[in-house]
Amino acid sequence: MTRVLVTGGAGFIGSNLVDRLLGEGHTVAVVDDLSTGKAANLEAAWAAAGDRLTFAQVDISAPEVADAVAAAAPEVVLHLAAQIDVRRSVADPVHDAMVNVIGTVRLLEASRRAGVRKFVLTTSGGTIYGEPPADALPVAETYDGHPGSPYGASKRGVEEYLHTYRALYGLSWTSLALANVYGPRQDPHGEAGVVSIFGGRMLRGEDITVFGDGTQTRDYVFVDDVVDAFVRSIDAGDDVRCNIGTGEQTSVNELYAAIAGLAGHDGPPSYAPARPGELAHIALDVRRAAAELGWAPRTSLRDGLAATLDWLRSSGS
Ligand SMILES: NC(=O)c1ccc[n+]([C@@H]2O[C@H](COP(=O)([O-])OP(=O)(O)OC[C@H]3O[C@@H](n4cnc5c(N)ncnc54)[C@H](O)[C@@H]3O)[C@@H](O)[C@H]2O)c1
Repeated sequence: MTRVLVTGGAGFIGSNLVDRLLGEGHTVAVVDDLSTGKAANLEAAWAAAGDRLTFAQVDISAPEVADAVAAAAPEVVLHLAAQIDVRRSVADPVHDAMVNVIGTVRLLEASRRAGVRKFVLTTSGGTIYGEPPADALPVAETYDGHPGSPYGASKRGVEEYLHTYRALYGLSWTSLALANVYGPRQDPHGEAGVVSIFGGRMLRGEDITVFGDGTQTRDYVFVDDVVDAFVRSIDAGDDVRCNIGTGEQTSVNELYAAIAGLAGHDGPPSYAPARPGELAHIALDVRRAAAELGWAPRTSLRDGLAATLDWLRSSGS
């Protein structure tokens, strides 16, 4: 069993990952400043894990994060804490870089001092490649586009440090480039996470606004499948970036119809002008994750949407 440090472990993806790690018998230390994450996301984990779970409320961009890593003495760091809001990154790129670049470098430095053997970075397959042309979709890890937002730039740029720490200190790494993740615990009141937002509004009987004409496409991957990729990367996929998605494009209009069908919601959405800087189309080629991690997405969109709606209903969101 492995001692694992999960940054961002009180967040949407992180808390689902913590549950899985504890279920497999690992010891887990969570570092999170609770800026968007919630202590309540770890309630089930505390109940199940006892002293195999520890929590430190620390900002990864602050020097104190080094003490938290040293105290946890992990073998593996799964780094999910981030400034995740693309529009906030445009409005305040310095804050974005403080968390996503400086915070990651602080963690890398603390990790090599603590003798960590593996560092897993969470990056964003929806932003680091920019807007690939249609004939490059689904986009492979080798595609050399440029990000259209400071968030994409911080996520892409900080990956260079992984190569550097491997060369200088022998620290192995994997970078998981996630598509659009959805599932239980994604904030239905947040700025991101269209499945939770649409589902929550439909269940509350509220109107929904689609920005643009709804033909824009994304690659939607269920959180349990994403968690499985992190678990596999503990012992595989060394020193590569792997896309984690489905390879399939789903339009916002198709997604709306699928969620409406499951939620029993009638009527079309309202349409508003597209938001500047939004991608038209993206999907990720996941063949490298199959080869390196033995990973594949297992959950159909319909099953994942149904599970998300069940959670929205039961949590009263
Ligand atoms: N949700 C997606 O569709 C998606 C897609 C691509 C990549 N990602 C990446 O996955 C990771 C997890 O995202 P999520 O969707 O679970 O979002 P989330 O906001 O639920 O999780 C992020 C967590 O990091 C914590 N955090 C933020 N800033 C911090 C700081 N300075 N110090 C310590 N903790 C901090 C938050 O409190 C939260 O618990 C992020 O790195 C994000 O960029 C998410």
